[in-house]
Amino acid sequence: MSNIIKNIIKLKDEVVENISKIKEEQQLNNEKAKYLGKKGIIAEAIRMMDTLDESGKKELGRVSNETKKLINVCLENQRKLIENEKINQKLLKEAIDVTLPGTKIKTGTRHVLRQTVDEIVQLFSEMGYIVAEGPEIENEDYNFEKLNLPKNHPARDMQDTFYITEQILLRTHTSPVQVRTMLKNNGNKPIKIVCPGKVYRRDDDDATHSHQFMQLEGLIVDKKVSISDLKGTLDEIARKMFGEDKKIRLRPSYFPFTEPSVEVDVTCNCGGVGCNICKQTGWIEILGAGMVHPNVLTACGYDPEVYRGFAFGLGIERIAMLKYGIDDIRNFYINDIRFLNQFN
Ligand code: DAH
Repeated sequence: MSNIIKNIIKLKDEVVENISKIKEEQQLNNEKAKYLGKKGIIAEAIRMMDTLDESGKKELGRVSNETKKLINVCLENQRKLIENEKINQKLLKEAIDVTLPGTKIKTGTRHVLRQTVDEIVQLFSEMGYIVAEGPEIENEDYNFEKLNLPKNHPARDMQDTFYITEQILLRTHTSPVQVRTMLKNNGNKPIKIVCPGKVYRRDDDDATHSHQFMQLEGLIVDKKVSISDLKGTLDEIARKMFGEDKKIRLRPSYFPFTEPSVEVDVTCNCGGVGCNICKQTGWIEILGAGMVHPNVLTACGYDPEVYRGFAFGLGIERIAMLKYGIDDIRNFYINDIRFLNQFN
């Protein structure tokens, strides 16, 4: 047998072992070129084919084809092995121990004022009220004029106002949302809204005053609304907000936008014995209310001969302070996490 053929047969034996030792893909490519390339061992042998006789040529053809096939299979298998090994290493490196304890993510909570607003709004929406909102930058026509507080009205002094221009101001109460809603309804639709939001007054901040605070306004306008509806509504709300055993009382008061006007008290937790919170009276003031003044209805496009309404306004901070026994309004605004966390 010719040496050329012997060499190829020998190659067949060593190739399997050689390739199985390879660890890198690049090396596989080199090996492939070494055996199968244009200048590779097999090509080299084929080039010398002419030196062989007929049967030698046949034999060389057969042996080199077999060898080529074998080399290709070996290379392919080894390539897969290397690939798998790579994936295994990667998986090992990136493995996650799911039994390790996790890091706790610190989450915030709704601010206690937000919670209070949400709870009150929920109570009213169960009674069919919808939420209306208005801008905090308001014009004085809506904040005062249309609420029966003309210029030079003494009641304007009750509310020290942040003016931006002569006509534009930071709203001093949520009552202008009443005006906006009535104007939008063209004087011929019934209204049933609550309006929560921020309001501003030029107060010096102390334990019970803040230059910015929150109110919730309520307004009903319809053809048959009476003060007993107002009382019934407030009765229900007070019980749901402060407890089923609670009672309310109405005291005559004065607001320019309502006639008659009342202030509403709820029975104190002390059960009427008298304590610090109720200043020994057994009652706690919670809101102002009244029947919408005919001047307001008229200014907002409703005919007071046909439509009537009641309105009320309450301070959110005050309600939260009563509910949670908070004695300083500034707590709501200084963002002390120890305070805020208590309402988690
Ligand atoms: N706007 C009043 C204030 O800020 C609160 C108020 C009282 C609103 C009586 C009303 C109401 O709607 O009827 O002090």
